Parts: sequence; structure tokens; C-alpha cells
Amino acid sequence: MSTMRKLPALRFLPLSLPGTRILSRPASSPLRTITTTPAPPRRENRERVAIVTGAARGIGRSIALRLAQDGYHITASDLPALQPQLDSLVSEITSSGTTKAHAHPADVTSPADIASLIHSSAATLGPLDTMVANAGIAQVKPLLDLTPEDFRRVFDVNVAGVHHCFQAAAKQMIAQDLSHQTPGEEIRGRLIAAASIVAFKPFALLGHYSASKWAVRGLSQVYAMELARHKITANAYAPGIVDTKMWELIDEGLGEKAGGRGKGEMMRQYSEELIALGRTSVPRDVAGLVSFLGSRDADYVTGQTFIVDGGIIFT
Ligand SMILES: NC(=O)c1ccc[n+]([C@@H]2O[C@H](COP(=O)([O-])OP(=O)(O)OC[C@H]3O[C@@H](n4cnc5c(N)ncnc54)[C@H](O)[C@@H]3O)[C@@H](O)[C@H]2O)c1
Repeated sequence: MSTMRKLPALRFLPLSLPGTRILSRPASSPLRTITTTPAPPRRENRERVAIVTGAARGIGRSIALRLAQDGYHITASDLPALQPQLDSLVSEITSSGTTKAHAHPADVTSPADIASLIHSSAATLGPLDTMVANAGIAQVKPLLDLTPEDFRRVFDVNVAGVHHCFQAAAKQMIAQDLSHQTPGEEIRGRLIAAASIVAFKPFALLGHYSASKWAVRGLSQVYAMELARHKITANAYAPGIVDTKMWELIDEGLGEKAGGRGKGEMMRQYSEELIALGRTSVPRDVAGLVSFLGSRDADYVTGQTFIVDGGIIFT
């Protein structure tokens, strides 16, 4: 981040138009709003099931809602403390009357929890088609101050967590017979993980987080190699700066290190300086990409990590 341009102070005006989400904008630049109209669903001609971890809030919640809109039945998972948020997500999904959903809390660092998650999903909703290993944590701390526990914790959730989900889901997919699939379907399962743009270019002060997401990118590639013979694909999505609780924490940490900057200042500065499309990302931006990765349009895509960042990193 040391090469970052210094921008003049910007004045932000609140915008409020019907059917739009309110975002701030510099007084001198064009409107930066996004429409709240949902994208059309990618419905397919058979019932499908997806598990989404870290689904109680943020990007995971948006992915669960989008996959449900696409016609997936959803098993939503998160830490046990977030059961009320999972229950409210399940109510929202099932209120459509056409899609089934079920909540099963699990800590992704525990292989036993993940085995039980997969089992409960299959018992309740049927054969598993797609696993979205979305749960993750971040921590803002200089590398020289990291304790072994800081490092271990981030890798446990972000890397081992993805591995536990991918491994157990793949075993389930391989064990299932294919009678639930449409004749001619080539792919028997999809593994999708949360990476980040820091898997391509790290952020200073997010060293162990960046390394963990780099590892997720590598792990997905090896899963793609080893599971291709089982017709299981493995891919990852790499969001940029998404307005969620995680970025609230990053904003606070970076603000503190920059000498006590106000709430939201760092996120605004990073968004303004780095994002070509000129607005901070919202979870739905990421859910759209995951919708593609979870669809038959992505049948011939494996081993890839896709950036969805409004134009920060160009590959
Ligand atoms: N927000 C961003 O800008 C951004 C950018 C790039 C990548 N990501 C990644 O996207 C994913 C979702 O991030 P978010 O912004 O929605 O964050 P978030 O903090 O809002 O949500 C993360 C969810 O993961 C859950 N979780 C944490 N530890 C867990 C564990 N051990 N077991 C089960 N669940 C656990 C949390 O309870 C939470 O509900 C994360 O993997 C994150 O690293 C986020």
C-alpha cells in the first residue's frame, strides 16, 4: 500500500433514489449507486442442493440467497452462536414456498462438525451438488507482532476450514449414485471456496490473512487436479473490498494503525484510490459470480480463482 497515491480530501454526499442502495460519492464525481433489482435466476431443470458456510451474514448470506433464487435447496451453516441469524435466513429462503432450506451450525475448523454438516444436509435435503466454503476470518496486525496463535488461528479457519469442507463434500459426492442427475450431465459436484484479491497481491498489515487466501487459491487448484477424474470441479472467488462486518474490522484496524482515523475512513480511502468502477463492493456482487460457478455454465471451468473486485487487480 506504500505506493498509494494521496488524494485530496473528498466530500461525500448521501444519495437516495427509489430502488437504489445508498452509497456515498465525492461531490465532483458522477452518481455511484447500484440498482437493487435482483439479477435473473439461473434455474436448472432438476432439484439441486448446496451447502454454504459462513452463511449467517455478509457474503455467505448473499450467496445462500442467490443460490436459492437459482433453484438450489440450501443448507446454511455458521458458528453455533449465530443460530438466530441462520434461522432467519432459512425463513427468508423458505418463504418463497418453492425452495427448501435448513440450518446446521458447524465450526469449519472441526472435521467432526463438517462431517456432521454434510450428513445432516444429505439426510434433510438429499444428494449434495455444491459446497461453498465461504467462512473466513481476518486480522489486521504487522507480521513482526503476530503471535503463533494469531497465525495458527487464521490458517485454521481460512485454509484448514476450506480443506475440511472440500474433503468431506467430495467424499459425499463420490459416494452418491447419480440417479438424481439429468442424463448427460457431465459434472457430479462443485467445490467453491472464498479466496480474496490478496491471493494475488497481498495487503500490508494483513500478512497472515493474505498468505492464507493465497493458500486457498493453491488448495483449490490441487483439488481441481485430483478430483477431475471424479468429475468434480474446484474453483475459488476472490472479492475485493466488500462492505461487510469483516471490512468493518479491517477498517478499524487499518484506521488505528494509520493514527486513529474515523470509522469508515480507510474503507472509503481504499475504495476511492483502488477500485476502477468507483464504488465499494456489496455482497451481491460476489454472489453473482458464485451463481455462475455453481451453474452448468461453469461445467468446463476448474482450478480457477476469479477476481470480482470492480477493477483493483487486473489478470
Ligand atoms: N469482505 C471482504 O471485503 C472480503 C474480501 C475478500 C474475501 N472475503 C472473504 O469472503 C468470506 C466472507 O467474508 P465476509 O466479508 O462476509 O465476512 P463476515 O465476517 O461478515 O462473515 C464471515 C462469516 O464466517 C463465519 N465464520 C468465522 N469463523 C468460522 C468458523 N470457524 N466456522 C464457521 N463459520 C465461521 C462468521 O461467523 C461469519 O458469519 C471470507 O472467507 C472472507 O475472507 C471477504
